[in-house]
Amino acid sequence: MFSFFTRKSKESLGDDASMLQTDIHSHLIPAIDDGSRSMEESIALIKMFEKLGYKKLITTPHIMDKAYGNSKESILSNLEKLKHACESENIALTIEAAAEYYVDEGFMKLIEKSELLAIDDEYVLFETSYIHRPIDLESVIYNIKTAGYKPLFAHPERYKYIKDPQREFYELKEQGVSFQVNLNSFIGYYGKQAQKHAMFLHENSMISFLGSDVHGEKHIESLKRVFKNKIYHEIMDNNNILNSTLS
Ligand SMILES: [Fe+2]
Repeated sequence: MFSFFTRKSKESLGDDASMLQTDIHSHLIPAIDDGSRSMEESIALIKMFEKLGYKKLITTPHIMDKAYGNSKESILSNLEKLKHACESENIALTIEAAAEYYVDEGFMKLIEKSELLAIDDEYVLFETSYIHRPIDLESVIYNIKTAGYKPLFAHPERYKYIKDPQREFYELKEQGVSFQVNLNSFIGYYGKQAQKHAMFLHENSMISFLGSDVHGEKHIESLKRVFKNKIYHEIMDNNNILNSTLS
């Protein structure tokens, strides 16, 4: 009996976010994008992150010309309000903000002006249309690097336009792009292709960061299943996951 319990406790070590420490992709600032809709919802979600074992959240509101009028300034001032609310709730978890940039004209201008909110002042998290590959993606990547940042592609597994992962992911990697894969992709949350491409990136040791991409409670519920799944440990073993370096 004793050995059973010993083995069991060893197996359960790390079946939460404690190996990651830091999450680098979420939508937790209230009512500024398609994530949390109120301060109450944000507080409830952040408490759930805390329960999952996270120590730090770098939340990443969308910056997208046609959908959300967010800017570096508006995100940082709203972050302060969120931090105050967290303090009054005695939340110990650290909260910072960066942004998830959609590749559009506004993004190009922000790169030119070097007005970017980067993760740890280093990684610029960017996304594209799910359907159409931007024709100028190479020059966007080049410009991010020239501005002194590292391009970090948000959930590369989710883009429908990636038809040949072997060629396309390696081409992006050669251009200096790092990959942030969503944890929920591994259990099929975003469909079969996203799961397959997430597995491709994992098996080829191409993942630098794991993200929750939490917009609401449904994503947290799904994350709990990922942490209990053996794939989580396999990803951590087979990739150089950098989340904990940002703690
Ligand atoms: Fe996102």
